[in-house]
Amino acid sequence: MAFNPEKFRVDFPLLTKKNPPVYFDNACMTLRPRQVTESLTAYYNDFPGCAGRSVHAISRRVDEEVYNARKTTQKFIGAKQAKECIFLRNTTEGVNLVARSFPFKKGDVILVSDKEHNSNLLPWQVIAKKKGLTLDIVESNKDNTFSLENFEKKLQQHKGKVALTAFGSTSNLDGVSIPIKEVIKKAHNNGAKVFLDAAQTAPHHELNVKSLNADFVAFSGHKMLGPTGIGVLYGPEKELLNLDFDNVGGETVTDTTFETPEWEGLPYRFEAGLQHYAGIIGLGAAAKYLSKIGLSKIEKHEQAINKIVSEGVTAIKGASIIGPGNAALRGGITSFNVKGLSPHDIASLLDASANIMIRSGAHCCHSWFNKHNSVGSARASLYFYNTEEEAQKFSSELKSVARLGK
Ligand code: ALA
Repeated sequence: MAFNPEKFRVDFPLLTKKNPPVYFDNACMTLRPRQVTESLTAYYNDFPGCAGRSVHAISRRVDEEVYNARKTTQKFIGAKQAKECIFLRNTTEGVNLVARSFPFKKGDVILVSDKEHNSNLLPWQVIAKKKGLTLDIVESNKDNTFSLENFEKKLQQHKGKVALTAFGSTSNLDGVSIPIKEVIKKAHNNGAKVFLDAAQTAPHHELNVKSLNADFVAFSGHKMLGPTGIGVLYGPEKELLNLDFDNVGGETVTDTTFETPEWEGLPYRFEAGLQHYAGIIGLGAAAKYLSKIGLSKIEKHEQAINKIVSEGVTAIKGASIIGPGNAALRGGITSFNVKGLSPHDIASLLDASANIMIRSGAHCCHSWFNKHNSVGSARASLYFYNTEEEAQKFSSELKSVARLGK
């Protein structure tokens, strides 16, 4: 049976309003269903305590809910053990944590691609400078897809020295996913570990970290129906225990004297201080909601809607799409420019004239735009609750907006 977004739209208060917005800014932040916001309210209203400390009923409930959220997250990404899912603020914090804590040696090489989000570029730049490492760039193919050939060349060029490769597994710039399995295999064959910035993968594509043999994977709650301020860093136990940890305090030790702390195991050594319990519980509710729909159905639906959006853009004279022409390779993202109009003009006009919300600018990928002598793009990013009608409305409104650029 065809995927029916209406079945889910009823769960999103903003989408049930009279004249709802056409919300196409999902790569930045998704909307939240009642199931998620109700889980947050339940925490604050019914059991607003701390986990892992007090023995009273409220605290025990928090323990249980946090445990369940971790188990749901484990299942959501196919991890072997729940304790391999560390809760932290967002993807960015995950990248920074691994960059700071990975046991790099002077002279080691880190590889990233030429289209990374600032969050998966700057932490590596900083640590490279600090520890005397080399940061090198793997150029994408002409159509902005990942080049396994260029990757292999870089691995050979720095033979034996690449300690870590860090790639956005799905790009927020153009929606293109890298061939994750092959990338990991190649990296491992060359003795390198792999960090995946999966902020745009986890919400939209099936991700099984165990079968991928992934070393580190980070993603954020707010891009997958969850609350802001909560994210996940995954790593197999062996890899996480190999990381240093410098954000220490309550919960990171089993015992302390004035001289020697006894450090906790996973996940607690990485979760210092009282946590964002409501966020963790909300993230669990979000992962449960997405798992119930099924990521492969979500992916297919986004591709179908994105085809309409892409055709709408392509129909406009002077329009160009970033990334491959085949919309299916761009998941739910169409990033584009229209000659004669700035990206911000396009986004503002669509918002003002038709209540269509997209993003404009450099999408935190300044390095890519600088390399391409461009200031940015307009970007429509979709999710499973977007409809064919919305895509058609976008296409016809964009046509009117584009006339202003002539
Ligand atoms: N990374 C987010 C985006 O692409 C903020 O919109």
